Amino acid sequence: MTDNSLSVRESVGTAPAISIRGVTKRYAGATNAAVDSLDLDIAQGELVVFVGPSGCGKTTTLRMINRLEDPTAGSIHVNGTDVTEIDPAELRRSIGYVIQQGGLFPHQSVATNIGCVPRLLGWPKARIRERVEELIELVRLDPDLLDRYPSSLSGGQQQRVGVARALAADPPILLMDEPYSAVDPVVRAELRHELRSLQERLAKTIVFVTHDIDEAIDLGDRIAVFKTGGHLAQYSVPTELLARPDSQMVEDFLGADRTLRRLSLLTVTTAQLEPATATTPPLTIEASFSLRSTLDALLANATDLATVVDLDGSVLGVITLDAIAQIASGDPDSEPVRPWAAPRRKR
Ligand SMILES: Nc1ncnc2c1ncn2[C@@H]1O[C@H](COP(=O)(O)OP(=O)(O)O)[C@@H](O)[C@H]1O
Ligand SMILES: [Mg+2]
Repeated sequence: MTDNSLSVRESVGTAPAISIRGVTKRYAGATNAAVDSLDLDIAQGELVVFVGPSGCGKTTTLRMINRLEDPTAGSIHVNGTDVTEIDPAELRRSIGYVIQQGGLFPHQSVATNIGCVPRLLGWPKARIRERVEELIELVRLDPDLLDRYPSSLSGGQQQRVGVARALAADPPILLMDEPYSAVDPVVRAELRHELRSLQERLAKTIVFVTHDIDEAIDLGDRIAVFKTGGHLAQYSVPTELLARPDSQMVEDFLGADRTLRRLSLLTVTTAQLEPATATTPPLTIEASFSLRSTLDALLANATDLATVVDLDGSVLGVITLDAIAQIASGDPDSEPVRPWAAPRRKR
């Protein structure tokens, strides 16, 4: 079997997809550590965002996962195997890596770029072509682009090609380093939305680096906030991070409007609904609405009650301003218990 990526893929099981233990990285000649005593587990299928100011060790951490850098101390396991026991070239073929502007080879066509890893793996030509066509569709690009060169594509298109290339050999893990930083905000939001839907369909484990906290909150199942010196400041699901930043640094980094931003991540059904009665309130809210939109609707209609209905119009209960206020207060008991990740939001 020429497909070396299987050795990592086959070991996908109950172990965390990525486990980082006591990892420190000190570059040669540097006085300060780039990454300092980092402990972090990333579950299978999770989308974790590394966020923090420039120079706090996000890229270095990512590059230690696929062994583009080796830690000075500590260990990293991928699907239960110590990465130092895996051949670096093989490891990198089994972990997709996407960097700014896709990091495409400028002198290769889009098709050749996307087929890069399958070619390295020695796939037959016809199978590569088939896979390339499947991938271009997966990232929602026109197949007419396959014969073009990266410089003739927009930033957003290049980024999509970069994702297609990273997914070519169907790696279980995708590492993305500030992939959207050169793309304008509207396209960026679209790319995030697409990445989210790709992740839901393909069940990849994704580690996504950004310095933009709003991007992190929009995208992450969990967020690792890094601080200067390569330390992990906090590692939480977005709603928890917004409700309970555990240091001044994280609170400052999150910025204003934490409560409203958190309400925008929770759907109306997160709140304790009152049973519907014969006199249901006239204002109706769809179950997929966020608590923030619900609050907005209540305020706009000068009412403290609304009927919550599901897609086919059946009544689920009544939402009250008090119930929203209770969740807004950050009272942990008022939030639903979730096993691991935040409830998926309506996008
Ligand atoms: N190849 C390198 N050699 C020496 N120092 C480096 C190298 N790469 C990064 N650094 C330093 O390590 C620290 C962390 O960098 P990096 O991981 O790139 O941070 P981030 O991605 O969070 O901006 C910075 O102080 C940076 O200057
Ligand atoms: Mg970086």
